[in-house]
Amino acid sequence: MEILRTVEELRRWSRTARRRAAAHENCVVALVPTMGALHAGHASLIRAAAQSCGNVAVSIFVNPTQFGPDEDYAKYPRSFAADCELAAAEGAAAVFVPSVEEIYPEGGATFVDVDGLSERLDGKSRPGHFRGVATVVAKLLLAAEPDKAFFGQKDAAQVAVLRRMVTDLRIGTEIVVCPIVREADGLALSSRNVYLSTEGRKRALTLSRAVRRVEALVKHGERRAEALIAAARVTFSVEPSVRVDYVELVDWATLLPVETAAPGTLFAVAAWVGPTRLIDNTVIG
Ligand code: PAJ
Repeated sequence: MEILRTVEELRRWSRTARRRAAAHENCVVALVPTMGALHAGHASLIRAAAQSCGNVAVSIFVNPTQFGPDEDYAKYPRSFAADCELAAAEGAAAVFVPSVEEIYPEGGATFVDVDGLSERLDGKSRPGHFRGVATVVAKLLLAAEPDKAFFGQKDAAQVAVLRRMVTDLRIGTEIVVCPIVREADGLALSSRNVYLSTEGRKRALTLSRAVRRVEALVKHGERRAEALIAAARVTFSVEPSVRVDYVELVDWATLLPVETAAPGTLFAVAAWVGPTRLIDNTVIG
């Protein structure tokens, strides 16, 4: 597996792969953007990418611009050697590990703002977060020129922002969304789960419980947003130490609230377990 450190190296790697590819290959280059501390959720994206594309690059970059001033940028888990092993084992041909200066040249003044969407769900409590995400992903897509880029449904609002960005900027990369990978007890895998204490780990299950409760109600025919949100809030109320950030039923494309759940509608929650902010969601089937 190659280790690429500059945008120029990544671009050259991608263009070389494309030159060598046979004409009939429909996906030559795939990109899996990550912030490292890779776990089975990331692994599932890399595996899916390797199954459909001949050349998979995994980017590992803890992106400073998507963290708020009081957030965990400095202490975000970093595990480069283990990440490389996992990426290689899942079929990545390259990892891209740029420095901050490589992605954000000195004097940089260009950012990508996805208006409206960026202020909804996580964007509401994390001002500037989606500007940072959209900017770094735009830079990664411009550098790697992938046919497909793989993202997790885990970060459903991020998916909505990035789909809008790719459409608006007419970027020729297909966004592929992979299902949420969970622990056996339901907790959605997250690089931030390492912050949880034993007690916090138990309390964190409230999020997946709320999500499962809503899935069960939908299965039994409940479609009213009011009823679904109320049921999820009841689940949270059992664990008052878990502080709810949002419980929302929204259109997945616009992230605007809907009154009735329909196929493709997003039910999403975010909550604080001690100092750790966690998210979870389900897409109505
Ligand atoms: P990160 O949190 O490292 O996540 C990288 C990708 O892995 C995202 O697309 C995320 O949705 C996916 N992922 C995380 N946990 C998952 C799980 N349990 N199941 C399935 N997929 C999961 O998301 C980011 O990094 C950054 O915002 C990034 C897009 C890299 C831009 O900096």
